[in-house]
Amino acid sequence: MATQASSSTRTSVSPHDVPDHGARHVAIIMDGNGRWAKKRLLPRFAGHKAGVDAVRKIARSARELGIECLTLYAFSSENWKRPAAEIADLMGLLRRFIEADIDEMVSDNVRLRVIGNYRALEPSLVALIDDALARTAVNTGPVLAIALNYGSQDEMVRAVQSLAARAASGEIAPDEICADHLHGALDTAGLPPLDLMIRTSGEQRLSNFLLWQAAYAELYFTDVLWPDFDTKALAGALHAFKDRDRRYGGL
Ligand code: IPE
Ligand code: IPE
Ligand code: MG
Repeated sequence: MATQASSSTRTSVSPHDVPDHGARHVAIIMDGNGRWAKKRLLPRFAGHKAGVDAVRKIARSARELGIECLTLYAFSSENWKRPAAEIADLMGLLRRFIEADIDEMVSDNVRLRVIGNYRALEPSLVALIDDALARTAVNTGPVLAIALNYGSQDEMVRAVQSLAARAASGEIAPDEICADHLHGALDTAGLPPLDLMIRTSGEQRLSNFLLWQAAYAELYFTDVLWPDFDTKALAGALHAFKDRDRRYGGL
């Protein structure tokens, strides 16, 4: 269930803005930081920094709008192809985000989750993340899931490896393995089913994000660049979602 944001962090949005939208789990491919900076003749770093401000605002708005789980694509398993300096900038921003926001997450009853192979990140960052996860683990409120070094194919390979190990040890029979097993072995185990996938910046692809989980998610693409994606834009996506007819293969 959503909790109230603390008074210092309240945004102008209210659940009455999009009543009964029904989206429990919303995922966002936060794209367009570089183009946002380029438009302003700024270095790409400025776009990423503005992107972190948008993360903060949207995470709060999502809570106020009653979204149970918000999953944000922050760094993909393919983003290692970028120049080392940009990767270092992104990791630095991530570190500062966790350091600055963890107290608010704890007091706002947010449960932090990380999906993706984050253990491959720099050891002191892994320790910071583990500490943040432990501090919010007792919380009971909405989930903020951050995808770090995340790739859906990598996630599925790791899930299959863990199931293969269980089969090899005799714990489960290979022919008994079903979708529920795979579902439970993914990084997203225990999160609500994905309802809405948003991508900013005009690209219309999933870029290796939540491919299994998006099987029946509604897709919403917007030209807005991520740093400009505000509470009104999120409310617009929820309005669109509310009008969709989800049939799941039925009538
Ligand atoms: C999204 O913005 C942030 C990450 C992928 C980390 P981009 O950096 O991809 O911005 P564009 O696509 O170059 O505009
Ligand atoms: C997707 O954005 C990854 C994140 C938002 C973290 P990219 O900018 O990496 O995606 P492509 O390369 O345009 O597909
Ligand atoms: Mg991009």
